[in-house]
Amino acid sequence: MVSWFSKLVVATTIRMPRWFVKWVSRRYVAGPDLADAVRVMQRLSKENACFTVDVLGEEISSMEEAQYFYDEYVRVVNAIIENKLDASLSIKPTAFGLLIDADKGFTNIKNLVEMASKYDMFVRLDMEDHRVTEETIQIVVDLHEQGLTNVGTVLQGRLFRSLNDIDSLEEKLGPMADYRICKGIYLEPEEIAFSKYSDIVSATNSCIDKMLAAGAYCAIASHDIPVIKHAKSALESFGMGPNVDDPRENSGPKRNSKGNGYEFQMLLGVRGPLRRKLAQEGHLTRVYIPYGAKWYEYSIRRLQENPTVGAQVAKAFLMPWTNRP
Ligand code: FDA
Repeated sequence: MVSWFSKLVVATTIRMPRWFVKWVSRRYVAGPDLADAVRVMQRLSKENACFTVDVLGEEISSMEEAQYFYDEYVRVVNAIIENKLDASLSIKPTAFGLLIDADKGFTNIKNLVEMASKYDMFVRLDMEDHRVTEETIQIVVDLHEQGLTNVGTVLQGRLFRSLNDIDSLEEKLGPMADYRICKGIYLEPEEIAFSKYSDIVSATNSCIDKMLAAGAYCAIASHDIPVIKHAKSALESFGMGPNVDDPRENSGPKRNSKGNGYEFQMLLGVRGPLRRKLAQEGHLTRVYIPYGAKWYEYSIRRLQENPTVGAQVAKAFLMPWTNRP
């Protein structure tokens, strides 16, 4: 249920002047240019973090726009290499044209993954709303079948289907399955997804357990204490943790710039002290770095899609002690 407070925040924010939204989003978006993202990563490298870079934007209306995203990500790969950053890519399949021309969209993604593989760089396919869940997973399976294994997707704990997806990906990809698990940001219809906080947390935790049991690489993307606590105790039960080689007999090979079978991921600007604490404990922590010219449209659209994001940002703004960067 979306509270009246969340609705109020959305209604107020979309009427706010652009400069104000920009000022608030400064903390969550590296900036409009690639150079801004590089600067933020160089700064956060000192906190022992590694990164995944997201060029802001998603569903597009023409394949020319898809070309823009492809070209920009090629620039990102080059900047990561030139600046010796420990970073991977996060891409949105719809920004590559998935909903306009699925074949061309696939080719765009394949070309980028191929380029990244030359540098042993990982590409994560972010998970968008339920219209493209199946297609996004299929792209990962097809790329693995074509020999490109430096790619993985995201599963959303809130979706009923996610536990079955782990089974089917275990069958198809074996130990090369590499997930980001998160709660899921899109408010999905109740026929296909949980909507109560406690159900979403418990479903997300079940996914973590299942991914770990399947030998998969598991990137835990949450700022929520109950999820992080659960993940830590699940890791312990598998004998996994900081400074220990992955002891699971069914796990895949250790990969360049990856943790010992798992890592924690957080968004730029959210719960820095918690992330730094995890890093100090020896866990690999990765920060999601969004940048791009479309920061305004992206922020407003996200807010309209899921008003609770607005409430979190407002809470962080009004009660900064709950979320220090
Ligand atoms: P929860 O929402 O309970 O947040 C816990 C606390 O963290 C909040 O009380 C608040 O203090 C703080 N917080 C969380 N989000 C905040 C924000 N945006 N601003 C300010 N404070 C915030 N989703 C998806 O559908 N597809 C995807 O591909 C991804 N990818 C992704 C990558 C990474 C690295 C992360 C961390 C998250 C995603 N997500 C995502 C989003 C994810 O599904 C989820 O919506 C958010 O992480 C919020 O859920 P939490 O588990 O963090 O808990």
